[in-house]
Amino acid sequence: METKYWDLKKNPRQAMEEAAALVRAGEVVAFPTETVYGLGADGLNGAAVARIFAAKGRPVDNPLILHVARKEQVETLTTGLSASARALIETFWPGPLTVVVPKAPCVPDETSAGLDTVAVRMPSHPVANAFIAACGCPIAAPSANLSGKPSPTNAADVAEDMDGKIAGILDGGSCGIGVESTVVDTTSPIPTILRPGGITREMLENLLGAVDIDPALAGNPALRPKAPGMKYRHYAPAAPLYLYEGDEAPLCLARAAERAAAKGVRAGILCDAVTARSLRERLGRNPSFLILSWGRGKADLAENLYTLLRDFDRFHPQLILGMGVDEGGMGLAVMNRLRKAAGFHILQARDGVVTVQGGTGFPDYLLAE
Ligand code: TXA
Ligand code: MG
Repeated sequence: METKYWDLKKNPRQAMEEAAALVRAGEVVAFPTETVYGLGADGLNGAAVARIFAAKGRPVDNPLILHVARKEQVETLTTGLSASARALIETFWPGPLTVVVPKAPCVPDETSAGLDTVAVRMPSHPVANAFIAACGCPIAAPSANLSGKPSPTNAADVAEDMDGKIAGILDGGSCGIGVESTVVDTTSPIPTILRPGGITREMLENLLGAVDIDPALAGNPALRPKAPGMKYRHYAPAAPLYLYEGDEAPLCLARAAERAAAKGVRAGILCDAVTARSLRERLGRNPSFLILSWGRGKADLAENLYTLLRDFDRFHPQLILGMGVDEGGMGLAVMNRLRKAAGFHILQARDGVVTVQGGTGFPDYLLAE
């Protein structure tokens, strides 16, 4: 299939109409949101939704989020909203928050993966909103990556995964937030975060009081996540990623990098700007090392994480060493993605010692002092 490409800087109205016409005809079109790019199709048309699963290679037991252009549209997709769902929608829509609600019969099993609930969100990105409104139906849309790869945050990354597999790509530039929406189950007595994301736990607690976090997110393989998608190895770069956490993570990561360099290992390093600068001084110009900085704070890390993981793939390192951040604010979402990308290979660096917190098979030079 030839994938049409629309640059929204040129003739946006015509692009939007062409893209919406394709969706109404049952095709799949990628579009930007404030979190990541989505792969959209008519969410009430089971055959159209099946095309999304085929394009992504997505397991059929992983349900999709329905995207709406107006808050009231959610009423047609559910048999009833709880008080917490109403408060969340009122406060955080449009924005990076997805609510899981009881599903109305009009939602096909293809979209909800046979569950009796459905996930709904109203994005705040102007292109997403105009596109959904032009389509005139709720848009089922997962992130626009091949299943298992990092989510795309710009149109070139979408094309890398989806060229030839979907009808078109609406290019609206880079996504601002960079990690996916927060998914909250509003059907349980205490609202529960199934996937941390753009709306922080603190923001939810300010509004609702107590909020739970699905205990399966901590990586215990004996627990089954309530969001089916969270059980898959996701966001993963091709090379193994080892994550340094704790107060002394920057220092211990730098020492490990020096030992790796001495052994001639080809490595990627993911860290903040300050650590990157000092590492470049310590290591000098070394073509076996790709040091990528996410910038300064956690918002920069969220915005750049997925593009950086894709950059590492192009460098073909033997391994990647990453630096963690604390879990406050956006830290919860980015650490969830980073720990999953690392397959829960985590090293704790504090009080002058590095200890393995999770995972096996660490190269000894990552640990030895
Ligand atoms: O920011 C986002 O949410 C992006 C953009 C495109 O809107 N979309 C996105 O969709 O990340 P996706 O399909 O990659 O992730 C949706 C997550 C999956 O983990 C899925 O299992 C979960 O939401 N989910 C969907 N419906 C659910 C339901 N009824 N109950 C529990 N989890 C659900
Ligand atoms: Mg996804």
